[in-house]
Amino acid sequence: MDANDVKTREHELVPHRGFTLISGTHDPDDVDQIYNLEIRDSDVFVVTYPKSGTIWMQQILLLVQAKGDLAAIRQLDSYSNADLVPWIELIGSRQAFITAPSPRLRVTHLQFHLMPAALSQKKGKVIYVARNPKDVLVSYFYFHKLANMLETPKDFDDFFEKFMRGDVFGCSWFEHIKTWYSHKDDMSMLFITYEEMIQDLRSAVERISAFLGQELSAEQLASVVKHSTFSNMKKIPQANYEQVSGELLSHQQGAFMRKGTIGDWKNHFTVAQNERFDELFHREMADTPLHFIWDIRDIE
Ligand code: PPS
Repeated sequence: MDANDVKTREHELVPHRGFTLISGTHDPDDVDQIYNLEIRDSDVFVVTYPKSGTIWMQQILLLVQAKGDLAAIRQLDSYSNADLVPWIELIGSRQAFITAPSPRLRVTHLQFHLMPAALSQKKGKVIYVARNPKDVLVSYFYFHKLANMLETPKDFDDFFEKFMRGDVFGCSWFEHIKTWYSHKDDMSMLFITYEEMIQDLRSAVERISAFLGQELSAEQLASVVKHSTFSNMKKIPQANYEQVSGELLSHQQGAFMRKGTIGDWKNHFTVAQNERFDELFHREMADTPLHFIWDIRDIE
């Protein structure tokens, strides 16, 4: 038995009420109680399918709240953005959420039906960040090598098939985005894409701060943008997950902040895989108005 067998057994995907959880990372009973959480108007949930810009948004939310003052975030007790803007579905997180002071900033990969019902009564705010699924797939492939709670893929082709089947944590990318998008108008939601953020980070931050009701001066806005670019976040250990324990991430396998661009899928997909993906995409997304940018050259 090699180390990866142990990794797989201890952190297997567990089907749970139309979604999947990761044993050892999520507690199904705890996750079930998220639905009934009382929500304050000041609560903010960033919702993402994995690898769509979650840690980017953690950094932006913290900076917007601190009016662009990076030093103020660094002075906080905890030194990781994952502690300051935690995943609500992780073991122990729900309990901490109940008594946490406002504003409670949280991230989640959960599907809509597992999240607090109060969100659909327009309590709290939701920011859904979507990313083109070909780049999500590639980013997720590399993350599986890095993350000890996820099975290391045999190879890219094997992972490609798993993603196509939705046989990964997060399940089907298509179901995730379609379900959340279909509830957009029931809740106070900002829907934004990773590609929009790459294309014009300043406008994205402006939209985010306006949505959160946070007025920023031009200088403060510029500071939020400056400290949330890929190259600058990569230099900030608190933001780039370098400090996450080696038990969770095998840092020698690569960096959490890997490429941070649009179109890396072109370096990985075969022509045949791309055709199959396009076919699935068009079948699944035909009834939605959603469009994605697939190549960085389209916006340069
Ligand atoms: S996770 O594990 O689901 O929380 O991952 P997530 O944070 O959602 O996504 C990780 C990808 O986001 C990229 N990233 C960024 N891109 C551009 N600019 C900034 N500032 C930024 N911060 C994070 C990160 O590099 C991962 O994408 P890939 O394609 O793997 O580089």
